[in-house]
Amino acid sequence: MVWNPADLPDAQGRTIAITGANAGVGYFTAEQLAGAGAHVILACRDQERAEAAVAAIRRRVRGARVEATPLDVADRASVDAAADALLERDRLDGLILNAGVVHAPRTRRSDRYGNELVLATNVLGHFRLVARVLPALERTAEAAAEPVIGPRIVSLGSLATRLGRLRLDDLQLERSYSSWRAYSGSKIALQAFGFELERRLRAAGSGVTSLVVHPGYSTSGRTPGIRGVNHPSRAKRFVDNLQAAWTQGKDHGAWAPVRAMLDPALTGDDYLGPLARTKGIPVQAHPTRASRSPRTGARLWPLLEAAAAQPFPLP
Ligand SMILES: NC(=O)c1ccc[n+]([C@@H]2O[C@H](COP(=O)([O-])OP(=O)(O)OC[C@H]3O[C@@H](n4cnc5c(N)ncnc54)[C@H](OP(=O)(O)O)[C@@H]3O)[C@@H](O)[C@H]2O)c1
Repeated sequence: MVWNPADLPDAQGRTIAITGANAGVGYFTAEQLAGAGAHVILACRDQERAEAAVAAIRRRVRGARVEATPLDVADRASVDAAADALLERDRLDGLILNAGVVHAPRTRRSDRYGNELVLATNVLGHFRLVARVLPALERTAEAAAEPVIGPRIVSLGSLATRLGRLRLDDLQLERSYSSWRAYSGSKIALQAFGFELERRLRAAGSGVTSLVVHPGYSTSGRTPGIRGVNHPSRAKRFVDNLQAAWTQGKDHGAWAPVRAMLDPALTGDDYLGPLARTKGIPVQAHPTRASRSPRTGARLWPLLEAAAAQPFPLP
């Protein structure tokens, strides 16, 4: 089937939360899902930026059902509070793990718990959030008589997974930090988590599905300007447009997570990325063997449980 991002299936009645949705790919994922009729929750660390994004979606999508909730994925108390708020809802049909440090610091930095900051933000906070929110997704799955699409968890992977490796013997990069290793390692870990989560959900007979996608190479200089959300400088636009042959806007980067949430034909075995690898409509892509490996996933899981201080309620 050819997926048409301009003609999305109806998502009315579904409630979907997106982490880091005040900017970039997360913002456009929220806007497109709201345009399809979903009730969208923008889970963001800065409430002013979150409200600006909510206002932008309301301006651009007639009748949008959209709201913001506080979430700093690098702060356990904030993750726990956001999870509690999501658990109180009548339903939760989707959770998109999008928030991320994209430009990793040049030197190793730790969060307040001593975890390397990029891993903590991109992976550990999401691991803790999913562990805590899973009952809300399970409840939604059980309540639906015959759901066309059961609840889904979508993880934002990356092409960077092809250009790095996951150091399970030095996950926190205490011995070998570089900004690239931190970013690519975090994305491999997030993909491996998404695939391992899917295996564990299937083994447990869950009605929830975990999918992994990557948004290609999406830059803000190739993205529509939106008040309060995206205002790249003229220099940034100029430089990013020089790379137009192999880049796309973040509005197009959002197509893969949106399809992962809305396409009824997908299963947890699917991995989506842009047609021309770095840009284009979302199609089936090939994850790295390391990130899909059950052995890697099984070894990673307890490391994440320990670092996130969060037992995961799936064997
Ligand atoms: N763009 C690409 O080409 C590309 C390629 C591969 C993968 N990805 C992945 O796609 C996702 C989005 O990327 P992007 O390009 O849209 O990045 P972006 O424009 O930098 O947006 C990142 C978002 O994450 C939020 N965030 C960062 N740290 C956070 C924290 N501790 N708690 C809550 N939110 C936090 C940011 O919020 P603030 O505004 O508060 O900083 C922002 O909303 C990332 O996971 C990235 O790894 C992107």
